[in-house]
Amino acid sequence: MEAFSKSRFDQLYNQVNTLSIQDALQLLWQLYPGKLTLSTSFSIEDQLLTHEVVKSGLPVALFTLDTGRLFPETYAVWSSTLQRYDISIKAYYPSQQLLEPFVEKNGPNAFYASVENRKTCCHIRKVEPLKRALAGKAVWITGLRSEHSSVRNDLSLLEWDEGNQILKYHPLLHWSTAQIKAAIDQQAIPYNPLHDKGYISIGCAPCTRPVRPGEDFRAGRWWWEDNSKKECGLHEKQH
Ligand code: ADX
Ligand code: SF4
Repeated sequence: MEAFSKSRFDQLYNQVNTLSIQDALQLLWQLYPGKLTLSTSFSIEDQLLTHEVVKSGLPVALFTLDTGRLFPETYAVWSSTLQRYDISIKAYYPSQQLLEPFVEKNGPNAFYASVENRKTCCHIRKVEPLKRALAGKAVWITGLRSEHSSVRNDLSLLEWDEGNQILKYHPLLHWSTAQIKAAIDQQAIPYNPLHDKGYISIGCAPCTRPVRPGEDFRAGRWWWEDNSKKECGLHEKQH
């Protein structure tokens, strides 16, 4: 998609900022018909967004990046979501050409050995498939929340993602955990039971653990690494 002029972006941002999620989805669809996509990791945030997309009646494309290392609970909530809603969710898988030699050379749990290995694993299992998932789309809807980390605290509701040449919309950016849980309960939306066991941000099973009281929300992701390195490359710092 073509990059925006600053004034065009600011105008759109100001509009979206004042709209409800439903109205923002309608506006974005009018501007980019057929080119909206929602990425879901089946987190509590993504479940609420899936519900909002279904409610909108718009055929927004839903996709997930199945790394092959997700929790059994994540696969279960994926199934119950399909049972609950009449939708399809496209799954993207790591490239066989990239994954097979990596695992053969480094073993199945190489991510614990070095940050470099971890980033390569995330690249193969998430970032490369993401590029395929976003191809041809104009708006990428995500469940990012500012509460999740200080880096994410700087994000804005709407962003231009230079690397992926796409507009990102984070409808729940400023929502609190309590607000999300209340909306999930009210509408009986299926969610990952790990959220009730101390897991806040849920990724791959070998790289996610529960968060203890008082710890940072992302303390449970790649907990053996330095704080500053804890992003997987899906959401690089935006401009
Ligand atoms: S990550 O960068 O650390 O992996 P996080 O788990 O916080 O991301 O999720 C933030 C948003 O990224 C989610 O709301 C979702 O939109 C997207 N996302 C993360 N993991 C996946 C995945 N496996 N499949 C699809 N989307 C994902
Ligand atoms: Fe690999 Fe862990 Fe990244 Fe998943 S989170 S892609 S298992 S390094």
